[in-house]
Amino acid sequence: MDRFKEAGEILCRWYEEFGRDLPWRKRHDSYAIWISEIMLQQTRVDTVIAYYERFLERFPDIFSLAQADESDILAMWQGLGYYPRARNIYRAAQIVVEKYDRVFPSSFKVISSFPGIGEYTAGAIVSIAYNQSYPAVDGNAIRVISRWEGLAEDPSKDKLKKKIGVLMLSMMPEGRAGDFNQAVMDLGATVCIPGEPSCASCPLQPSCEAFASDRQNELPLKRKAVKKPEPLPYGVVVVRKDDQLLMEFRQDETLLGKMWGFPMVKIEKRASKSPSEEILHVRQLFQEKYRLELSGGNKIGRILHIFTHQMWEMEVLEFSLEPSQSFPAGLYWISSTEIKNLPVPTAFYKVLRLLS
Ligand code: ADE
Repeated sequence: MDRFKEAGEILCRWYEEFGRDLPWRKRHDSYAIWISEIMLQQTRVDTVIAYYERFLERFPDIFSLAQADESDILAMWQGLGYYPRARNIYRAAQIVVEKYDRVFPSSFKVISSFPGIGEYTAGAIVSIAYNQSYPAVDGNAIRVISRWEGLAEDPSKDKLKKKIGVLMLSMMPEGRAGDFNQAVMDLGATVCIPGEPSCASCPLQPSCEAFASDRQNELPLKRKAVKKPEPLPYGVVVVRKDDQLLMEFRQDETLLGKMWGFPMVKIEKRASKSPSEEILHVRQLFQEKYRLELSGGNKIGRILHIFTHQMWEMEVLEFSLEPSQSFPAGLYWISSTEIKNLPVPTAFYKVLRLLS
């Protein structure tokens, strides 16, 4: 047996003994695998587990998902972040029901054309659900295979990803694509970890190029640091009436659209502004944006929230509303019990926490 196939067999045997016991590994239908893989994009396994279980209980199959309201799905997603994933799941469910007779397809090409599914996720789904020979090249795979093969190449480049995909295919035991890919994920998550890996407990140590040349701490090469986004300052407006809060249904915003938040205005950098100037500034911008007159104004706190490419610096201020004004579209009084059932993304959830 060649070195590649042998390593693949070793990995699968290791996986049988040491693979993690994760809820989506108890089911082999493509629907459950798809949901788990979407949730696992950019999100840690530990965080996903509870969301996955709740989601599958609420939407046990693709038909129940396609029939739901988008807002129900967003509400289930609350706190998991990267909300376009939830919308893409909903859109893909409609496509499966309308075009594929309610059966989640098994073709890599078809699955890759669905919203929210790239090469990695499509490879993970068809290998885990159908044992089709496709690699799933994520950060774990890049780390494990770069070390094992001693590849000192820029991990942000597609060329390295392609090379690793080809290597994984040559290692994959016949008919065990799902186990093999998940073995690589688990080895990368528990043994061949970033920084200082646990080579003493690694099944691939005897054939590992990085270990042989003592380069396991250097490989894979570091990605070039991405520049942190500049904070965008916002004034977040809190208005209370008895048990209710003034909330906004964010219509067509590109970020956090179709979800609920507090009304807010983009403010100018406030280096030289005094607190009372800042309060007046927010009142004025609010009047321009929402055509509503505020009075008073108290600072409650500041919240930083980081998205993938944006950082919000949210100055939370409480005001009163001048009486007898009609609301523009999108603004409503919402009670604390109502809020619990609405999709409120984490950025605004932090504001709610600040108020309670
Ligand atoms: N990360 C992405 N997909 C995964 C899976 N199937 N198991 C564990 N971690 C993962």
